[in-house]
Amino acid sequence: MSAPAALITGGTSGIGKATAELLHSRGYRVMVTGVGNAANAGLPEDVMVVRADARSLPDLDHTMDLARRRFGSLDLLFLNAGISRPGPIESIDEDAFDALFDINVKGGFFTLQKALPLLNEGASVVFTVGAGEGIGAAMTAAKGALLPLVRSLALELAPRRIRVNAVSPGMINTPAYSKMGISQEMIDSWAGDIPLGRVGAPADIAEAVAFLASDAAGYITGDNLTVSGGIGVHSRP
Ligand SMILES: NC(=O)c1ccc[n+]([C@@H]2O[C@H](COP(=O)([O-])OP(=O)(O)OC[C@H]3O[C@@H](n4cnc5c(N)ncnc54)[C@H](OP(=O)(O)O)[C@@H]3O)[C@@H](O)[C@H]2O)c1
Repeated sequence: MSAPAALITGGTSGIGKATAELLHSRGYRVMVTGVGNAANAGLPEDVMVVRADARSLPDLDHTMDLARRRFGSLDLLFLNAGISRPGPIESIDEDAFDALFDINVKGGFFTLQKALPLLNEGASVVFTVGAGEGIGAAMTAAKGALLPLVRSLALELAPRRIRVNAVSPGMINTPAYSKMGISQEMIDSWAGDIPLGRVGAPADIAEAVAFLASDAAGYITGDNLTVSGGIGVHSRP
């Protein structure tokens, strides 16, 4: 039997990259996408890095074509490509709003649609959502839109035994923050507001994704696994 195959969107940095590294170390064959300079991803040599914009349907077709030729089929699709545009309503212009929904929502939806023919029976699909508090209305809406999508798709794909879940990171120390001009000192200062007393590491999310991809999570679908060090526990049902 061949090793399981994983496609990770937004796998060239942060959470996606840590997940690619973890799964690779556990014997997965891995392909990642990103939009920047793929040569700089710094992943193990046999991880295939594809330049593909989650907003571009031709890019998604190209990615699936490469995945089919390299792997034949997929056991995990981690829909992680995303951007952050936090801020109050006054600070969000049309471009920022469109980018949030195009990359986070439309990108995940159509990547999954294009991947459907490749997904094995029993495959796992994981969307990256977010703990979603105090990050601004547009971001909350773009990430929040993914939860009903996850639940509906879990039911649609259940006849094929494909499980669809979300992982919701809290504050995870990734390059996303430096891209927004937030210093390491500022990130470190958040630890005091987090019940478990530390900012999360990309590996914390990678472990959760690896669990959701595994047989150990074989009876879990349509769910949202929050990995936040306790942020937001009061607002959960
Ligand atoms: N970090 C957190 O605290 C946190 C909290 C909640 C949710 N999240 C979510 O977690 C996911 C990963 O974030 P991260 O913190 O790991 O950020 P990151 O380090 O900035 O990584 C983002 C990844 O997405 C890729 N990407 C960006 N725009 C893309 C596009 N249009 N098409 C395809 N790929 C694209 C990036 O590619 P390049 O490297 O090539 O630009 C990169 O691989 C995102 O969905 C984010 O919203 C993060």
